[in-house]
Amino acid sequence: MITIIPSEEKLIKKTQQLAIHWGFNYSAIIPENSTSLFYLQLSPQHLELIQTGKNSPGSIFVDFTAGQVAHRRLFGGGKSQTMAKAIGLNKISKPLILDATAGMGKDAFVFASLGARVIMMERSPISAALLSDGLQRAALDDDITDIMQNISFIFGDARQLNTTIQLKEIPDVIYLDPMFPHRSKSAAIKKEMLAFQQLIGEDLDSDELLDVCRKIAKQRVVVKRPIKADFLNHTKPSYSMKMKKHRFDVYGCTSVV
Ligand SMILES: C[S@@+](CC[C@H](N)C(=O)[O-])C[C@H]1O[C@@H](n2cnc3c(N)ncnc32)[C@H](O)[C@@H]1O
Repeated sequence: MITIIPSEEKLIKKTQQLAIHWGFNYSAIIPENSTSLFYLQLSPQHLELIQTGKNSPGSIFVDFTAGQVAHRRLFGGGKSQTMAKAIGLNKISKPLILDATAGMGKDAFVFASLGARVIMMERSPISAALLSDGLQRAALDDDITDIMQNISFIFGDARQLNTTIQLKEIPDVIYLDPMFPHRSKSAAIKKEMLAFQQLIGEDLDSDELLDVCRKIAKQRVVVKRPIKADFLNHTKPSYSMKMKKHRFDVYGCTSVV
């Protein structure tokens, strides 16, 4: 179980509450004899994931207001970017998109910033805690109020949709970007992705997830895959849209972009 620590004394109570809420181990400090590679830290700025050791990617936290995510919102190419076309944002007006593998919420935030209503869903308590923290902080930022009003979050396993988890409204599109089991340690694999792969494991059940989602989405299911990866569940999509390193496999749609 991952340990969460406060960065300063006045955050002890809040850190303990987070530990109880997400099922983390609380500690006031990282014990000197700890062998764990990862821990979470609550600071006045944010909740962050910290990896110890020489390959550490630095602290990982969710920030929708600055850095890479903000850059993508402002300069990412709008509705003409490949990901937006795969989703159908240039065709469907104000769609409801369920990102069933939300992770750090980066892709989902792009959809919301392009005018979609978005439900983010995440099952890993670690990712969910980081994402919730980022969403709460973003909700306080006046520059993105209209975007944040269109985002909601569900903590849970999307394979349980329509059984133990019910949605209030059926999504037009479901987006999937499951963790891909990268075997190589090449520099091309971002350190952040490697950290999550070590920490929360590979999403080896995503074949099943595709089947569940195809029964739910009104219009299409879009799967982000590394360019050379097999189709999920060996199921050929209606079509794929290719980028340099990734492709988007589009299932169950009637119109071609
Ligand atoms: C590669 S990350 C997604 C990154 C995300 N697209 C982004 O832009 O930040 C995959 C995430 O999907 C989550 N996930 C995989 N299968 C899931 C499922 N069945 N239900 C909910 N979350 C799932 C994993 O826990 C992981 O955090």
